[in-house]
Amino acid sequence: MTENGDPAHPLFAMIYDPAMALVERTILKPHREYLARDLTGTVLDLGAGTGAMFPYFDGRASVHATEPDRHMRDRARNRFPDAASEIELHDAGAADLPFPDDHFDAVVSSMVFCTVPDVAASLSEVRRVVRPGGEFRFLEHVADDGWREAVQTTVAPAWKRLAGGCHLTRRTASLFASNEAFDVVEMDRFELGVTPVRPFVRGRLRRRA
Ligand SMILES: C[S@@+](CC[C@H](N)C(=O)[O-])C[C@H]1O[C@@H](n2cnc3c(N)ncnc32)[C@H](O)[C@@H]1O
Repeated sequence: MTENGDPAHPLFAMIYDPAMALVERTILKPHREYLARDLTGTVLDLGAGTGAMFPYFDGRASVHATEPDRHMRDRARNRFPDAASEIELHDAGAADLPFPDDHFDAVVSSMVFCTVPDVAASLSEVRRVVRPGGEFRFLEHVADDGWREAVQTTVAPAWKRLAGGCHLTRRTASLFASNEAFDVVEMDRFELGVTPVRPFVRGRLRRRA
């Protein structure tokens, strides 16, 4: 991440798909299916990265994707043919989304709130762009407990540099659950992943009217 908040991680973008290939197949697939299940209307894939969610959109929704890192966007464009949905890709950070209020029926975010520089401002933008009654669906890795959290804290600075600005010790799910703009439809913690990238929390929040 540069000082002005413009992320550019060419190496991370280059290794992302090969490094994640096994994890995608063995761990992430059912969770990505969950995020995309039965989506209709207008949907935002926030922080789309290399477009790993694109093949999971089944064509019933019109999909916009945002991604501020041009190296990621270049790779995401190559995934357009894998998607059944029409996808419009935008250069935007989560804290400053180029969409009107109440625009989306659903916002989907997979492993993005570990990386955004300002979690509160990003969540506030999600609240702004999802319509009342619409859903915010997420999958995030969060801070662990006990010795595992100690390991996360120790390796966090190096990890942040290696993994495109990723934070290991955020308590993202608790923050989401306590946000007054949303009702929790469901939220589950999974003892998935390998220290320091575990556990994962996924869920669906509904924007209050
Ligand atoms: C771990 S990757 C996840 C990518 C993708 N969502 C996935 O599931 O594979 C985190 C992504 O967040 C993006 N990102 C970084 N800063 C961001 C910001 N301010 N707003 C939105 N996305 C951001 C990164 O460029 C990267 O593509």
